[in-house]
Amino acid sequence: MTIKEVCEKYEITADTLRYYERVGIIPPVTRTKGGIRCYTDADIGWVENAICMRSAGLSVEMLAEYVRLFREGDSTIPARRDLLMEARKEIIVRLKKYQETMERLDYKISRYNEAIQTGVLKWDAPKERRDIQMEFITLNNGQRCPVIGIGTFMLKPAEAENSVREALKMGYSCIDTAAAYCNERAVGRGMRESGIAREDIFLSTKLWPCDYENENAVNETLERLGTDYVDLLYIHQPAGNWLSGYKLLEKAYKDGKAKSIGISNFEGQYIAELEKKWEVVPQFIQVEAHPYFTQSELRVTLDKYGIKLMSWYPLGHGDKSLIEEPVFTKLGEKYKKSSAQVILRWHTQMGFAVIPGSKNVDHIRDNLNILDFTLTDEEMAEIAKLDKGVRYYHRTEEQLKGFAAWHPEFETE
Ligand SMILES: NC(=O)c1ccc[n+]([C@@H]2O[C@H](COP(=O)([O-])OP(=O)(O)OC[C@H]3O[C@@H](n4cnc5c(N)ncnc54)[C@H](OP(=O)(O)O)[C@@H]3O)[C@@H](O)[C@H]2O)c1
Repeated sequence: MTIKEVCEKYEITADTLRYYERVGIIPPVTRTKGGIRCYTDADIGWVENAICMRSAGLSVEMLAEYVRLFREGDSTIPARRDLLMEARKEIIVRLKKYQETMERLDYKISRYNEAIQTGVLKWDAPKERRDIQMEFITLNNGQRCPVIGIGTFMLKPAEAENSVREALKMGYSCIDTAAAYCNERAVGRGMRESGIAREDIFLSTKLWPCDYENENAVNETLERLGTDYVDLLYIHQPAGNWLSGYKLLEKAYKDGKAKSIGISNFEGQYIAELEKKWEVVPQFIQVEAHPYFTQSELRVTLDKYGIKLMSWYPLGHGDKSLIEEPVFTKLGEKYKKSSAQVILRWHTQMGFAVIPGSKNVDHIRDNLNILDFTLTDEEMAEIAKLDKGVRYYHRTEEQLKGFAAWHPEFETE
């Protein structure tokens, strides 16, 4: 067969055939006196081998090595066998990936089919997490945030990495961290180790005041997290040049580096001050909130702008007197839930996004398992009676000055 005929039969270009021969995937082909390559049956066998193996993804180097060994004769049979076994291992890895991709495509297609029939597009999630019927809060820019996530305040890097990885594997899709927690790199590692696709994670972080005038602060946070965008970016405190910090958020929002933005601890006069200067209305505020302190005043302002509340210290930072309130014990018995689960469900029914912190895998699992019961209006009213307007954390202007001057030691690796 001439090279032209081989090309036509196998739908391959002459350049590719010549390349395969040059790098040793096909042994040298004899040529006519005029220099035209003439492929024997044995050569055709090598061509078929090359096409088959390359289309399965085997490397040029591996195939060339195989051909080289073959040409050395029978003494290389064990080495040839080993090489093929190596190739087989690679194919198995690839097959598994194809299988997973196929399952994912099938799942997406089935979601779209269902949506076409019902008019409702269900939450997209990898296979192992589909049992969780996540609920979402729709933000004032149309983005959606899962109602329950995991917080990482005061978690050492190894703890944060472990909590984030395990939480994502068991079905969480929202993570809250902050530059000041000095665990962003660890959170990024946990995300990657979980195997959950980036687009299935709602990631929230915060800039600390020392970085409010640092033009590169957002890039540095993204670099630490190992991602090219976050789903929610806060300024952590109304301290220092916080307006400049907010402008960094707005720029990140416009550049697509933050899908939504937020203000953290902006209670009191700060929202009114910010309102005069904002170009983008924030999507979230993160503040202390729990049944002892429900932020009733602040919520009136938030409703005006469609800003959603994400509660920190949702379990009173683990305070026993809150968790052991008799009303939670009673409701826990009724719904077969722990008191902490009842409290977290109360948060979501208040319309809050909630991010309990934990380094205990059993607590992390329990805290997610709150979406299969609903407190009645009467029960919500009973819990409302606990609101004493009392916070756990009291911030002073002096502390805000201290925050502005503090430079956390962000992780370097
Ligand atoms: N923006 C801000 O300024 C700010 C301030 C504070 C917090 N935050 C954010 O909000 C998140 C939540 O706050 P937080 O972590 O300080 O307080 P929290 O969620 O109210 O309480 C955390 C404490 O509760 C315990 N806990 C968790 N789940 C439990 C369960 N099911 N049963 C019993 N105990 C349980 C944890 O202990 P185990 O580890 O033993 O589970 C931990 O000691 C933080 O992680 C952080 O992301 C933001």
